[in-house]
Amino acid sequence: MPPFPQVVALNEAAFKHQLTRELQVAVAVVFGGTSGIGHAIVEALCEHLGGRVHVVLVGRDEGSAREVLAAFPTSGEGMLREFVQCDVGSLVSVKRACEEVKQLLEARSVARVDYLVLNAGYNSWSKHAVTNEGLDLHLELRYYYRALVAQELVPLLEAASTPERPARVLSVLGAGFVTKIDLDNLGNTAKPRNGAFRPCLRGMMMSHAYTDAWFAHLASMHPAISFIHAHPGAVVTKALTLDLPFPWGAPLNALMNLLVRYAPRAIGAVPPRECGEHMLWGVHDAKAGMELRDRYGDVISSRGFKAGERIGNGTEPGKLNGTPMKGYSPSDASVHVIVRHTEEVLERVLGLQVGRAK
Ligand SMILES: NC(=O)c1ccc[n+]([C@@H]2O[C@H](COP(=O)([O-])OP(=O)(O)OC[C@H]3O[C@@H](n4cnc5c(N)ncnc54)[C@H](OP(=O)(O)O)[C@@H]3O)[C@@H](O)[C@H]2O)c1
Repeated sequence: MPPFPQVVALNEAAFKHQLTRELQVAVAVVFGGTSGIGHAIVEALCEHLGGRVHVVLVGRDEGSAREVLAAFPTSGEGMLREFVQCDVGSLVSVKRACEEVKQLLEARSVARVDYLVLNAGYNSWSKHAVTNEGLDLHLELRYYYRALVAQELVPLLEAASTPERPARVLSVLGAGFVTKIDLDNLGNTAKPRNGAFRPCLRGMMMSHAYTDAWFAHLASMHPAISFIHAHPGAVVTKALTLDLPFPWGAPLNALMNLLVRYAPRAIGAVPPRECGEHMLWGVHDAKAGMELRDRYGDVISSRGFKAGERIGNGTEPGKLNGTPMKGYSPSDASVHVIVRHTEEVLERVLGLQVGRAK
C-alpha cells in the first residue's frame, strides 16, 4: 500500500500546478455532496481552486446542504453556492433536478459544467426493493440516476470542454469490481428475488458493469468529454456500514462496524478527505474518453474516441472497440444491450426518447 501522505502531497502539488492554468471560474455540480466522499471532493476542489468555483449541490435535505455550502471556501462575492432538491431514488425527481440545474446555470450566465460528480449511492447487503417506478432500488440509486444525469447534462459538459481541458464526469462507485453481465436478468427484476442477500449483491455488482457500459456509450457519442468511473476503496463514511442479513451476518456486521469505528486503517479504510484528494487527482489528470480509476485516482484503463467512431459489435468481454480494458466487463455487444435497456427504462418512466434522437 503506498504511503498515503506522500501520495496526497504529490497529488496536491501536481493539481495546483494545473490550476494555474484555470482561467475562468469552474462550475461543479454534485449529486451526493452533503456528506462522505462527495463532500470531501467539493471541499478539496474549492480549496485547490482558491474558492473560484461555482457549486451546485443536488440532494435531499436543504438544511444540511445549505450548511455545507456555507462552509466551502470561496474567493468572495459572486461565487454560486446553490442547492437543488432531489431524491435520486426517483427518476422523475432526477429529471426535474436536471432541468432545475440547467435553468439555474443559464439564469446566472454560467451555462456549462466543468465537474459533474455523481456520488449519491446505496449499499445495503440485506435490504432490496423495487421502486414505485418499477426499478431495482440498488440499480436506481447506483446506476439509473447516474445514467440519466450524465445524459441530461451533456450539453452543459460539452459547453465546458475544450481540446486541452475536457469537462469531467466522475462516478464514484465500483470501477474494476465487476462480474459478467447477466443478459437474462436485465435490471435485476427478471430473476426471482428470493432471500435478502443475493438480490442486493446482484444489484450492486450489476451497477458497476452497467456504469462501464453507459459511460463507454456516452464517451463514444461525446468524445470531447471525460467519463470517469472510479472505485474509492474503503472510506470511513455511512456507506461502509455492513448490514449482512441476520442471523449469519450479525457477527460479521458487529466486527466490521467496530473496526470501521476504532481501527479503520486495519481494514485499509481512509478518511473521506484523503479519498477526496485522490479522486480529485484522478479527475484533474483525466483525458477525454472513458476511464476507469482506482482508489488512488490512478488509471486502471482508459480509451478515447475519435469523432464519429461508434462502438462495434465485438463479443469479447473486457474489450472496448478492440481495446482490452483492465477492470471493464462489458463486450461491445453487451454495451448495446445495456444501452437499449437503459433507454427503454428512461422512455417507460419518463417518456424520454434518448435513443431515437441520435
Ligand atoms: N465509503 C466506501 O467505503 C465506499 C466503497 C466503495 C464504493 N463507495 C461508493 O461511493 C459512493 C459514495 O459513498 P459515500 O461513502 O460518500 O457515501 P455517504 O457518506 O453515504 O454519502 C452519500 C451521499 O449521497 C447522498 N444520498 C444518499 N441517498 C440519496 C438519495 N436517495 N437522494 C439524494 N441523495 C442521496 C447522501 O445525502 P444525505 O445527506 O441526504 O444522506 C450523501 O450526500 C457510493 O456510490 C458508494 O457506493 C463507497
